[in-house]
Amino acid sequence: MEIFNTIITTQSYLAPFKKNNKTIGFVPTMGALHQGHLALVKQAKAENDIVVVSIFVNPIQFNNKEDLLKYPRTFETDASLLEAEGCDVIFYPDESQMYPEPDQSVYDFGLLDKVMEGKFRPGHFNGVAIVVKKLFDIVLPDKAYFGEKDYQQLQIIKALVEHKNIPVTIIPCPIYREDDGLAMSSRNMRLTAEERKVAPFIYQTLLQAKDKSNQLNPNELTHWVIQQIEENSMLTLEYFEIVDAATLLPVINFNDCQSSIGCIAVFLGDVRLIDNILLE
Ligand code: PAJ
Repeated sequence: MEIFNTIITTQSYLAPFKKNNKTIGFVPTMGALHQGHLALVKQAKAENDIVVVSIFVNPIQFNNKEDLLKYPRTFETDASLLEAEGCDVIFYPDESQMYPEPDQSVYDFGLLDKVMEGKFRPGHFNGVAIVVKKLFDIVLPDKAYFGEKDYQQLQIIKALVEHKNIPVTIIPCPIYREDDGLAMSSRNMRLTAEERKVAPFIYQTLLQAKDKSNQLNPNELTHWVIQQIEENSMLTLEYFEIVDAATLLPVINFNDCQSSIGCIAVFLGDVRLIDNILLE
């Protein structure tokens, strides 16, 4: 496994593979890797000749300084986990590589970046789009793997690729969960033991909501979820929204869209957790 810190070394290593029509699978990450990330790497490995993983905690997608400072950084462990998965290349740049000067690009994703995460984390998706576009330009992947855990991010990346005509296929990967249902996240390691016990309640509530989606309309179901979360004194709800899985427009009637998804963001202590579930 190769570890490169610079764009130029990464590009010169990958160029001969590209030239010989070898397929490149790419998994962008911010490190602190867990089984959810590794599931993406496994899938990339199975579907491509060579797998590149990037590890870069992208400062411009953090709207909260505290969150950026507290973001876990575990490069040594990450590298050994990736080596064990058969990853071929880690691209591990520092900020001066990625942003020799500030990137002022402004993306407009219409409604996609205005709702939910976009509303509560202003500038977040613009920062994600800037870094992912840069990473695609460096790695030139055939396929890139993104988790459905960050469902809205996945839709933004699909739109980015379409708007900018980037020749890459985006592969959505299912949410990887702990045995008790908690969606795996690098932020889970910041939960206290007590908080960790409460955390699975989020997914349990989503599962119950899915069950109830044939009896309640989206508005009633939304209120039901809000009430469940509010009754738990350790959780603070930021949002729960039922949206069209393709457009992220609010769903008024389940029959009006092909598939709808319930998306949630919750604070547990000072840790912000997100999750989602396909309703129908
Ligand atoms: P990060 O949070 O490190 O996630 C990297 C990838 O792993 C994303 O596609 C994310 O959706 C996926 N992932 C995380 N937890 C998952 C889980 N439990 N199951 C399945 N997939 C999971 O997302 C980012 O980094 C950044 O925004 C990035 C795209 C790298 C741009 O900086």
